[in-house]
Amino acid sequence: MKVFGVIGYPVSHSLSPAMHNAALRALGISAVYGAFEVPPEDLPTAISGVRALGIGGLSVTVPHKETVMAYLDEVDPVAARIGAVNTVVNRGGRLFGTNTDWLGVKRSLEEAGLELSGKKAVVVGAGGAARAVIYALRELGAEVEIYNRTVEKAERLARDFGGRAYPLAEILRASGEILIQTTSVGLRSWENPVPPEIFRNFRTAMDIVYVPLRTRFLSEAEAAGCQTIDGLRMLVHQGAEQFKLFTGKEPPTDLMYQAALEGLRHGEEKD
Ligand code: ATR
Repeated sequence: MKVFGVIGYPVSHSLSPAMHNAALRALGISAVYGAFEVPPEDLPTAISGVRALGIGGLSVTVPHKETVMAYLDEVDPVAARIGAVNTVVNRGGRLFGTNTDWLGVKRSLEEAGLELSGKKAVVVGAGGAARAVIYALRELGAEVEIYNRTVEKAERLARDFGGRAYPLAEILRASGEILIQTTSVGLRSWENPVPPEIFRNFRTAMDIVYVPLRTRFLSEAEAAGCQTIDGLRMLVHQGAEQFKLFTGKEPPTDLMYQAALEGLRHGEEKD
């Protein structure tokens, strides 16, 4: 039986086991997917363990997405460009690192029917998560504007991927096809990093936060008449892409979404 899993710290709230195990079961694949809590100092030995135990593949989450690269045999150029590996595939003993986060963003946008080529997309935040979002937007041909509290970080991303950078305080000047929230503001709290008047200037709003699923950002966007895309879409699509890499099979994406949703409800009850 093959073994897969997620490594992170902490990892107990991860929805990946629910999502992947549901998909493995549905396709009758004889494999299990676990959650491995790995403190930063144990990462090198954990990766040795993956090799020694012949673990088939890993999802990689905070805080290991950047540091894991040093312990792999190969990192694909897209993951290197984004600066983060969220997926490790064990190819006959060689550990290959790649990134499906940006694909999760791309699929979520495509699924919502958005056509972003040559259109303006505005990103709030300039942290690690923003990098995958901006990479996806550039791949879709969008013109990107990045607003961040610390403008220097937005400038860095604008240089790396192409785009314009502004301080978050100037957000009310922004307009475009879509507004994407990538900061941690609103995660397990009822906060929105942007004033609600901004939503008048956009057709669609997307949040990458999914706890709560209906963030204040999305709820205010909806009230202003925007189409909304929740953060669970991206999570599920990045997981579905991982499933494809792990098993070589077409992922049951709707089922994975339902399993993640159930896991989310379960987690909230526990909290
Ligand atoms: P991640 O990897 O999850 O994106 P990160 O790299 O720590 O996390 O980035 C967090 C993002 O949230 C940053 O854009 C950060 O803004 P700064 O670069 O100015 O720190 C943003 N952020 C966090 N708390 C914020 C707040 N209270 N108001 C506005 N932006 C905030």
